[in-house]
Amino acid sequence: MADYKITLLKGDGIGPEIVNQAVKVLDKASEKFNFSVEYVEALLGGCAIDATGVPLPDETVEKCKASDSVLLGAVGGPKWDNQPGNNRPEAGLLGIRGALGLFANLRPSVIFGPLKSASPIKDEIIGGNLDIMIVRELTGGIYFGKKGRTEVNGSPAAWDTEMYSVPEVERIARVAFDLAMKRNKKLTSVDKANVLESSRLWRETVNRISKEYPEVELNHLYVDNAAMQLVRNPRQFDVIVTSNIFGDILSDEASMIAGSIGMLASASLSDGKLGLYEPIHGSAPDIAGQGIANPLATILSVAMMLRYSLNQPDAADAIETAVAKVLETHRTPDIYEEGFTKVSTDEMGDLVCQAL
Ligand code: IPM
Ligand code: MG
Repeated sequence: MADYKITLLKGDGIGPEIVNQAVKVLDKASEKFNFSVEYVEALLGGCAIDATGVPLPDETVEKCKASDSVLLGAVGGPKWDNQPGNNRPEAGLLGIRGALGLFANLRPSVIFGPLKSASPIKDEIIGGNLDIMIVRELTGGIYFGKKGRTEVNGSPAAWDTEMYSVPEVERIARVAFDLAMKRNKKLTSVDKANVLESSRLWRETVNRISKEYPEVELNHLYVDNAAMQLVRNPRQFDVIVTSNIFGDILSDEASMIAGSIGMLASASLSDGKLGLYEPIHGSAPDIAGQGIANPLATILSVAMMLRYSLNQPDAADAIETAVAKVLETHRTPDIYEEGFTKVSTDEMGDLVCQAL
């Protein structure tokens, strides 16, 4: 029987509540599919600053590296807004991505049938379904480039740098092409090659890698056009590959097309098996502790973990099916509509377990 060690980074705000629900579901899946899970907890973000002074203690990196997979809730909150930039909770998140080499961020935007009416986009535009996979480069570009403060003509100024090396683009492109091969064989690379030199290198490199994947239909869009096309005709997309900052922006946009940011999961993958799984929403400090947060994005992140890191695709499918089933009748307040039963964070977790 497979035995997995999972590090839990519950984080801040609603993080602990939603991770607890996901753990319940993972435990239930482990009984049903005959594997066992052992949990280790570690600190990341604001809670780590409170306990140790820094958002990413060394011990957290060690625990993550010693596990099969990592489940993260969310980090950040107004309490830590006065921390210097390099000691904010978000710096912990970037730090763990870098330390674990998590260069490939997979952000699926899918509409669960019963939630179609929650999308702000008209039905005829969404069509029967929406299933877009955004592949965001996660450990390079402007997020990790040199930055600093300086002076220009006697006034304070600041700068950041966007830089990509060919190997960085090659490896993220291959992840995206591989995914496209398993899906509808369509890949859109998003850049700003009409302005940015780093984007021109990105585009050349993606074009070169595309020769290894003759079956995949590749096109390129400038990021401004991509942002517009996402709401104009989202069905044209299958897999999208893009840089760190463009992926950050486009994945929030795509999540809203899917109805609720409270529903979307993500996987951050390295060269090896180790992955970090987290909902794409934030720590929502305004609703923390009230039992009203939607745990489904975190539960669906567990499904991604089972699929991409733990090689338990049947358990992953079962969780996704269970979530879709529960949504036919029950809703947390963020996705509540008349005619459904409104439930708490905890009840939603229990319902998914029952449906499993
Ligand atoms: C995300 C978040 C993070 C990012 C923040 C919290 C640093 O917005 O995961 O999309 O920008 O990467
Ligand atoms: Mg973001």
